[in-house]
Amino acid sequence: MKNILNKNLDLKGKKVLLRVDINVPMKNGAITETSRIEKIIPTIKLLLEKKAKIIIMSHIGRPKGKVVEGMSLKPISEKLSILLNKEILFNKKLIDENTISEINKIPNGSVMMLENIRFHKEEETNDKEFSKKISSLGDIYVNDAFSCSHRSHASVEGITKHIPSYYGLQITEEINALKKITLEIEKPISLIIGGSKISTKIKIINNLIKKFNNIIIVGGMANTMLKHSGIRIGKSMCEHECGPLIKEIIENSKKYNCEIITPKDVIVSKSLDGEGKEKNINEINEDEMILDIGSKTISSIEEKINNSKTVLWNGPAGYFENPNFQNGTKKILEIISQKTMNDKIFSVAGGGETVAAINKFKKFDSFTFVSTAGGAFLEYLEGKTLPGIKALNQNV
Ligand code: 3PG
Repeated sequence: MKNILNKNLDLKGKKVLLRVDINVPMKNGAITETSRIEKIIPTIKLLLEKKAKIIIMSHIGRPKGKVVEGMSLKPISEKLSILLNKEILFNKKLIDENTISEINKIPNGSVMMLENIRFHKEEETNDKEFSKKISSLGDIYVNDAFSCSHRSHASVEGITKHIPSYYGLQITEEINALKKITLEIEKPISLIIGGSKISTKIKIINNLIKKFNNIIIVGGMANTMLKHSGIRIGKSMCEHECGPLIKEIIENSKKYNCEIITPKDVIVSKSLDGEGKEKNINEINEDEMILDIGSKTISSIEEKINNSKTVLWNGPAGYFENPNFQNGTKKILEIISQKTMNDKIFSVAGGGETVAAINKFKKFDSFTFVSTAGGAFLEYLEGKTLPGIKALNQNV
């Protein structure tokens, strides 16, 4: 494993392209949660000690290959500068033939952050020429972004074909922890899965069924399941094109004896900043949206957690940013952390939104392990080798 901790790795004056995941939650241009920024600091400090020039690459959001004003990394570079107590140069221009001369101007021991790499459409298509182009900006590449290593993107996978590539500190820590967990895992295992990234996760659920005793589906994921089972969900967030996949999930859950649990009752409102009203799932009006789980659902989740030895959690139960819709997420958090602290269960939480909830309700130390990764964490649990990790291992 090529790791930046290697004492023989001489980085003095070398340009290090550092891929991180600082895809943090933001509201009205302000960062609402900073864990992912804090986590990359040890790697940056180590590279600075080694007197490298650091060029940070990351994405935020899903701008789909276009420049989107609200998805600039500028505010994140400012936050990093405060946390690191060091100037971070921000290169706002998209990567072109002049970028290398901008990089060459910066002194050793300095840090430059490039603008959102997903503003380039070639990033997500893992374009060969683009991978080569970004690799030419540095002397070595470091992946410290476990949470996007499940993406075959140019700055995660393609780049490693053209430049010596190394593991960063955070990605190493995450992989080691998850390796240990998957070896030690004890049944019955329950997975609680929610959040808003429905399209990514719905496919993963189907593969996870074989490994879990219970899969509890909440948040936007649950709306999709409910809708496809004929429930009227009003204007709730939902993925419309996955009927056949849901059918397969139901069939597989029977085949592999995995119980799928969806909400029995929910909290609805007409708007995200409105008041909440508890309703059974067959009482939702056309102008309402589901924004949290209800009390009966919370009780059934508690029962499942009480009967589990391992609980894995990815994705909040509702729109917890508004206190009117935070109860489900908060209660799940309290139940899991109580059980973990009493040594009754082994618990792992993962994902940007989940970590934000854990921090909001100040429960960070009450899980066996908290991963920064959401989709990558789930794919790792599936037993897949993530493309970004495979690429690092194949790099010679
Ligand atoms: C995440 O938040 O899980 C990572 O940043 C990956 O984001 P993505 O799902 O948009 O690829």
